[in-house]
This record gives sequence, C-alpha cells and structure tokens, in this order.
Amino acid sequence: MMTSTPTALTTLQNKRVLLGLCGGIAAYKAAELCRLLVGAGAEVQVVMTKGAQEFITPLTMQALSGQPVHTELLDPAAEAAMGHIQLARWADLILVAPASANFMARLAHGEASDLLTAVCLARRSPLALAPAMNQAMWSNATTMANLGLLESAGVLMFGPASGAQACGDVGPGRLLEPSELLQLCAMQFATGALAGKKVVITAGPTREAIDPVRYLSNHSSGKMGYAVAAAAIEAGAEVVLISGPTGLPVPDRCQLVPVTSALDMLAACESHPADIFIAVAAVADYRVARPAAAKIKKSAEELTLNLVRNPDILATIAGSKPRPFCVGFAAETEHLADYAKEKLRSKKLDMIFANDAIATFGNDAASITAYWPGGETTFEPQSKAQLARRMIALISQRSSTTDA
Ligand code: CTP
Repeated sequence: MMTSTPTALTTLQNKRVLLGLCGGIAAYKAAELCRLLVGAGAEVQVVMTKGAQEFITPLTMQALSGQPVHTELLDPAAEAAMGHIQLARWADLILVAPASANFMARLAHGEASDLLTAVCLARRSPLALAPAMNQAMWSNATTMANLGLLESAGVLMFGPASGAQACGDVGPGRLLEPSELLQLCAMQFATGALAGKKVVITAGPTREAIDPVRYLSNHSSGKMGYAVAAAAIEAGAEVVLISGPTGLPVPDRCQLVPVTSALDMLAACESHPADIFIAVAAVADYRVARPAAAKIKKSAEELTLNLVRNPDILATIAGSKPRPFCVGFAAETEHLADYAKEKLRSKKLDMIFANDAIATFGNDAASITAYWPGGETTFEPQSKAQLARRMIALISQRSSTTDA
C-alpha cells in the first residue's frame, strides 16, 4: 500500500474537494477520508445521497468537514445557500467515495435525478469515483459497460481494490483505503511532478524481417506503453515515444518516433538522450540473421531460419554514461517475482514493473508489481490509464529520491 508523503500532502493545501457519498457499508471510510483531506489543508464540501444517509449521518460529515452537508436537489433553502451549479463551480476536484453501482449507472447515462448526479453533470473540475460494491456487481457486464462510458467521458477511477468483502465474498469491489484515496487526490494537483524532465518510452512490438513481405513479431498491443506516455505528459514531462507498429492513436503533445525492428529501436533510443528511460516495448530477442532480399518461394518441405540475438536495448541504455533513471518491464508467464528481480539486477535497472504476460497482452485492465533496489509495491487491477498514472507517480518519486 502506498503511504502519504509530505510532498503529496502539500499539494492539497487550500484545494477545494467536493466529497460525494453514496449508500454502502464502505461509507464509514468516507468519514476518515474527510478527516484526512481536511488535515492535509483541503476545504471539503460534502454531498450525500439518500442511501449514504442510511449508513452514516450528515452530522458526522458536518463535524469532520466543518461545513453544512448538502443532501437535497430541490430544496429552495439549500439551493439558495449553495445550489448544484455553484457547488460544481466551487470544486477543484469532485471525488465520489464510495461510488455505488447504481450511482455509476445513473452518472454513465447522464442522469441528474439527485443532488450528487446533478453536481457531477454540471462539473467543471476533474471527477473521480472510488467504487465500492459486491464483487459480482462490479464484474457484471452492465457495470463494466458503464465503467467504459464513464472512462471515455474522462471520469477517473480510484480503485476498486480486491479482497475480502463485508458480504463474505472475495474479489474486486472494495473501497480503496482512505490513505490511498488521499494520495490519489493529491496526485491530481501534482501535475508538475515531471516538469522539466525528458522521458523516453519504448512501446509496442518490434518486427524482424524474414523477407520483404514476412516478419517475426509478438502479440504486444502497445497499450501499456502509450498509457505510460500519456501519464508522463500529464505529469508535465517532455515525452518521446519510440514505438514499434501498433496502430494506436498517438497521445497529444508527445513526439512519436516510429520504428520497426529492434535495431531501429536501439538507434532511435541512442539518439534521444533522456532523464528517465522507460522500456515498455516487447522487443524481439532474436532477428533473422540474413533476411532474404526477395520473397522466399515455397519449395522444400522444411525451411530453417537462422536467428541471431538482438541487442538488449534497455541494458544498453542502462549501461550508457551518463545514464538516465532506467525502468524496465517484465512480462512473465511464471516465477514473476524471481525473474523480475533478476532482470532488475542483471540489467542494472532503477525499477522494474512485472506483470503476467498472459493476463495482460491486449487487455485494458491488469495488475502490476513494481520492484526497486530495497522495495516493492503492488497495484491492484485497474485500467491501464490509471495504472500508468500510478506508475508515473512512483517513477517520479523514486527518480527524485535517486537524484537527491
Ligand atoms: N528489453 C529491451 N531490449 C531487448 C529485450 C528486452 O529493451 N532486446 C526490455 C523490455 O522493453 C523490458 C525488459 O527489457 O523492459 C524485459 O524484457 P523481457 O523480454 O521480459 O526480458 P528479456 O531480458 O528479454 O528476458 P526473457 O525474454 O528471457 O524473459
């Protein structure tokens, strides 16, 4: 679990956070979150749905936020004090924690049937949801479809975590811990975490020519590398994305260097010096020794291709002088932790992210573990965009500690 850092907390000073609560047993954790937000210097206004008030009283939230709690959409007195449009304008960040399946469904379809949905619909600030629900409700195809709609509307997802649930089930759907939610809120304002840094990222597969029309490659979609590039841009970095063929849209404000083979990728990396080098690409370990100049025609029953080792791009950059802060990825099908730690050591990396190759390739949601000399942390399954943000936050934190 990530702990709060003083740097992250200073970013919440004087920030206006609108904390929305939906009904659910996890609502009690929102009380602690409210206390932490106020403690970090944020101004907090609380909006509670009817369901939320069944689990925790407005009086508790009023005492913790130091502000009257908002519950009604159509109450003239309440609207006169601070109506839904004013609340939406007031907020620098809206966080709904816990967010129920019902709330996600209503929000995904643009409903404004109560105060919280109306405020969210009228928002001008980033909106983050911290879902909390039974694992079957979370995994249900309708909830997943609503999640897709919300993410495509730019709504941020904080969690959910996986584990034992109040109902006795085990699985995804737990509200993140208040300290983690606090950290994620702080990160929304820490936009300059990588300001002034040049980040070079490799992504996608490489293609190794057999002849002019055929090649050897792998199933890498490039999605993770592109998400990491987008998150680094969001954190203020100047980003060069050196990518094998993917067909993915290029993130805004990022310099794309398209490459095909591992040798092309190495040459591009060597001509783009970086402060931080993140190797997400699934580089082909071998290439055809002598690609045929013309298309190979079929004749013999057997064809042998002679393969030679490709250079290890990441190890080459990690061995260069001056060397950037080097981050690798290890996609493994077994012995994940051991292999990842061995790659961290042998390639002389500053950090490595390890994931399950089979669960990850081409999927939008994946979990990942980061290892660095003397430490590790695991991120629960979440969208690649969210994972990438958390990975960039960790890289920025670790690289500044290493600099110092
Ligand atoms: N990598 C690289 N150049 C290569 C091979 C890998 O830059 N020729 C980088 C990848 O981008 C990734 C990390 O090294 O960040 C780990 O890659 P992986 O293929 O999992 O490891 P390998 O060292 O190739 O080991 P193996 O294939 O035996 O698992």
